[in-house]
Amino acid sequence: MRQKMKKQRTNQNHLQHVSACRKQEWKPGNMVYPVPAVMVTVADKEGRDNIITVAWTGTVCTNPPMVYISVRPERYSYHIIQETGEFVINLTTRELAYATDYCGVTSGRQTDKFETLKLSRQKASKVNPPLIGESPVNIECRVTQCLKLGSHDMFLAEVVSVHISEQYMDLNGKFHLEKAQPMVYSHGAYYGLDHVLGTFGYSVQKDSSFAHRRSNKPSESKKQKNREKKSKNSGRHRKKVL
Ligand SMILES: Cc1cc2nc3c(=O)[nH]c(=O)nc-3n(C[C@H](O)[C@H](O)[C@H](O)COP(=O)(O)O)c2cc1C
Repeated sequence: MRQKMKKQRTNQNHLQHVSACRKQEWKPGNMVYPVPAVMVTVADKEGRDNIITVAWTGTVCTNPPMVYISVRPERYSYHIIQETGEFVINLTTRELAYATDYCGVTSGRQTDKFETLKLSRQKASKVNPPLIGESPVNIECRVTQCLKLGSHDMFLAEVVSVHISEQYMDLNGKFHLEKAQPMVYSHGAYYGLDHVLGTFGYSVQKDSSFAHRRSNKPSESKKQKNREKKSKNSGRHRKKVL
């Protein structure tokens, strides 16, 4: 017998009519866009470092925190990652768009990209490759598996440490990546993100909650909750667990 369904709270105020589109069928290809374009730092056993731009990257597991990068074996950085099993993912911003592109069209075989771009090296805590000082988030990674897929090999890696720029944290300990003006890559072009459409779960939340989040001004009760959470998890930024 069918059980009675529990009514899910929805916020119909934001429900819009969306029209279905007429489609063409294309041959199989890479069409998941937009994606991040990150600057990955590597360092060989002699300590020579390099930066490679990678768009085939993402999160694959929440707990343990795991990510991947897919790299073509012909890249100069490929063998360094394979030999050392370490890399750092440095998130990119509007200000870093030029550097991101440059690191994706020049090779560390001929160029010291840190020097040419006047980027700062910061010491990582658990791995040897440096962090890019100008990047708002640096994710230290240790490779757990290398999957040979075809054109690219996929390095699956565990996140072993994360560095967050203090300038984008508010007094409640919440990190505002949007203030760093992150960028995305789509079909050969770099884009900024300058408009919030909604926040996680807004389709089922009360209006007031979304309005507070949209203006980035937490309500009094929210502030109180944040303070409690902050004192519980001091040193850890808040995040939605997916
Ligand atoms: C936006 C962008 C995204 C890229 N994504 C990847 C990628 O996901 N995997 C890859 O192997 N190369 C990717 N590349 C190409 C490498 O970054 C490029 O070949 C680079 O010069 C390699 O540097 P290296 O020789 O110093 O290792 C990308 C380039 C750009 C501009």
